[in-house]
Amino acid sequence: NYYAIIMAGGVGSRFWPLSKANYPKQFHDILGAGETLIERTFGRLSQTVPADNVLVLTNEKYKTLVNEQLPKVKDENIVLEPAMRNTAPCILLAALKIYKANPKGVMIVAPSDHWIEDEKAFLTDLETAFKACETDISEEKLLVTLGIEPTFPHTGYGYIQYESSDSAIKNVKAFKEKPDYATAKQFLAEGNYSWNAGIFIWSAKAIIEAFEKYLPEMYTLFNSGYEALNTEKEEAFIQENYEKAENISIDYGILEKSGNVGVIPATFDWSDLGAWGAIYDNLEKDAEDNVIVNAKVINRDSKGNLIRSEKGKVVVVDGLEDYIVVDSKEVLVIMPKSKEQDVKIMRALVQEKY
Ligand code: GDD
Ligand code: MG
Repeated sequence: NYYAIIMAGGVGSRFWPLSKANYPKQFHDILGAGETLIERTFGRLSQTVPADNVLVLTNEKYKTLVNEQLPKVKDENIVLEPAMRNTAPCILLAALKIYKANPKGVMIVAPSDHWIEDEKAFLTDLETAFKACETDISEEKLLVTLGIEPTFPHTGYGYIQYESSDSAIKNVKAFKEKPDYATAKQFLAEGNYSWNAGIFIWSAKAIIEAFEKYLPEMYTLFNSGYEALNTEKEEAFIQENYEKAENISIDYGILEKSGNVGVIPATFDWSDLGAWGAIYDNLEKDAEDNVIVNAKVINRDSKGNLIRSEKGKVVVVDGLEDYIVVDSKEVLVIMPKSKEQDVKIMRALVQEKY
């Protein structure tokens, strides 16, 4: 009864010059691990979920990339979206497909582009969540999220306030998506908050009922095509109706409102690899605190840098400190680590000029 859906519709624009609209981050081996992020995600999930039960939701532009990188995912399990509508619509559509195939289905919703070091710990938490969702008989059914211990007032994450208890899955008192800085600071000071990892576990039935209650228009829209799902009529239904769905995330649309959210404080290290600095933070450093991905580096007096190139390129650095150097086929970027958020501006400048 276990299913997984991998969301792979994002663009990952902070990983320019590597990540691009026609070739986003999740399809790159950003970490130099020998596998792309989506390949790793599939590998991780398919240890618990049969490959036949893994669905991939992505923009129609990325069909070829998904086919190439995930040959084990059946064509009928790849949902191609004609437009970007954030996470709520694709999750509802996938849940309806799963429910139709198996009304007892429980599913994990996983982003395609995250980093998890300890897969065993992740799979243990996943098993705990699956079991709880499978046996849940509450009126308003359980929605589980994985929580990460916050280390600073990040304003790009969802915050989960939970009740202390001995059970593996804690009761969530409140879910607040992307608070402002002052609010995030206050949450950290109060304690008993975790970051939402954006990884969710629930039964298909539970999330469908939540949509019916909290996003009824979207529910009506997609449920009107229930007959077509998992048949040769599905594609036409999606083409015709997907764009009509509200552009809203699952976090704002459902989790902030639901009365039965649970959180498992994660026992694994996690990063959503938000920007280049996260690659630096999560990979092993050499004796001079440099992180080298793919490159062969000659280092003179340089420390604290992230240096990434195409495989095997020789990079010589002298006197460089706390920089990010990313060499791609077309563009070479050299910037201080503190400016990682500016890559969108840099990219715009390049597009304007070249
Ligand atoms: N298929 C599909 N279609 N996938 C999408 C779409 C879409 O239109 N839009 C986004 N995604 C995918 C992205 O590729 C990513 O893997 C995932 O859904 C989450 O979207 P993000 O855009 O990265 O969300 P976020 O970072 O703003 O916030 C979410 O993740 C945080 C943790 O990384 C929220 O869940 C936060 O609460 C959470 O803290
Ligand atoms: Mg994100």
